[in-house]
Amino acid sequence: MPQQQDACTLLDEEHNKAMRLFEQYKAAHDDNRKRLVASELCQDLLVHMQIEDEIFYPAFQRATSDAPLVQESTREHKEARELIAKLEQNPIDARLMLELEDVILDHVNDEREKMFPEARKAKGLDLMGLAVQLEARRSELMAAHAA
Ligand SMILES: [Fe+2]
Ligand SMILES: [Fe+2]
Repeated sequence: MPQQQDACTLLDEEHNKAMRLFEQYKAAHDDNRKRLVASELCQDLLVHMQIEDEIFYPAFQRATSDAPLVQESTREHKEARELIAKLEQNPIDARLMLELEDVILDHVNDEREKMFPEARKAKGLDLMGLAVQLEARRSELMAAHAA
């Protein structure tokens, strides 16, 4: 078992994995490989956004009262989901994938530079406890997707 990590570290590891998958997609030489990578990436991102929406963002908003930041982040999730829906129809569309990468990069930077530092300063936000909840919900969602 890896050492216990807080919610921000857990979420940021998922960001790093998504970045690696964007690179793998660009490096893929054939359409089958692109389809495989796109499918893993889209599923990972959907699960990641869902656990943020269900668990992390509400806890963040309760602790910080920073509603504008949560609204902006939620809007970016919506934009990403629309692109993912299009990619699921056409996973070998490299231009669409680049658009998604742009949106996700911007969004991840906001979380890293604004939301996570604010979360770590917030009083009464149990980031270790949240990590356990995020992990549990992720496992549930991954199992449901795999079924
Ligand atoms: Fe995130
Ligand atoms: Fe997010």
